Amino acid sequence: MQFPEYRGRRLRKNENLRRLVRETKLSVDHLVYPLFAVPGKSVKKPINSMPGQFQMSVDYIAKEAREAFDLGIPAILLFGLPSKKDEQASGAFAKEGIVQQAVRRVKNEVPDMVVITDVCLCEYTSHGHCGIIEKGQVHNDMTLDVLAETALSQVKAGADMVAPSAMMDGQIAAIREVLDENALDDIPIMAYSAKYASAFYGPFREAADSAPQFGDRKAYQMDPANADEAIREISLDVSEGADIIMVKPALPYLDVICRAKQEFDLPLAAYNVSGEYAMIKAAAQLGWLDEEKTMLESLTAIRRAGADIIITYWAKQFAQLLKK
Ligand code: PBG
Repeated sequence: MQFPEYRGRRLRKNENLRRLVRETKLSVDHLVYPLFAVPGKSVKKPINSMPGQFQMSVDYIAKEAREAFDLGIPAILLFGLPSKKDEQASGAFAKEGIVQQAVRRVKNEVPDMVVITDVCLCEYTSHGHCGIIEKGQVHNDMTLDVLAETALSQVKAGADMVAPSAMMDGQIAAIREVLDENALDDIPIMAYSAKYASAFYGPFREAADSAPQFGDRKAYQMDPANADEAIREISLDVSEGADIIMVKPALPYLDVICRAKQEFDLPLAAYNVSGEYAMIKAAAQLGWLDEEKTMLESLTAIRRAGADIIITYWAKQFAQLLKK
């Protein structure tokens, strides 16, 4: 087909024609809403670099979860800021840990909300790394035990799904094993399989107070230059028992999302990270971008690339927009 027989503009003439041939649809069904739990009562502290996002005590977390659920959002992803950090990340797996408390509260007040917990140590370690430090390095295998214990304690508190994000080798197998040993074989794992060492996590590190105190995360998170390696990482997670795989960040890695969708038949999640959110918020505040339109275009692009699930700070705002 070629011009003038083919004229692409024929089907773009008006919104109803465009609607008829639109290939990618957005809906709240695919969205996961991340939330940050902090100790205390009635705390709702704005996160400067993420306008519209807050650190919340568990009472407000439950309230926010209720509002999100009533808007049709099926799942939240919980992060926690413990009252004390230490070398061993003991706040991560404490029975009364901040995430464990938040999970219990949400499951109590919004039982049908799917509660997913991030399994990582960076928010709980005094040094801010995602694992246990041995001789100045993050020790892979020592970290596996702590991640497994963390996942188990979160599920015992009521989490419906765990999402390991520490990028330790073997973490999916370690968590699957401990869950199965505890008769929790019905709990799915969403694996942060291809997680890059990205500068786009900047605002999150303020939100979760999790910036590494020395060095960086390049010895465990992936090199942004690599895509074949992402496929290897995902294959390993699939063989270790992942139920959902993930690419993170989303927008700068749409090629990786696209390849992952073609090569694997598991549900694929993409994490539209803090920096992707902050960029649009900042430009919109300056009047340089239209916030709603850039948000919708970003989410559409992530779905079009192949993501089945999008983890996004826009979840609630998007859902509210649909109701208008
Ligand atoms: C924990 C974790 C991070 C994010 C999700 N889980 C930060 C990091 O690895 O430094 C980033 C999320 C975001 O930027 O929105 N390891």
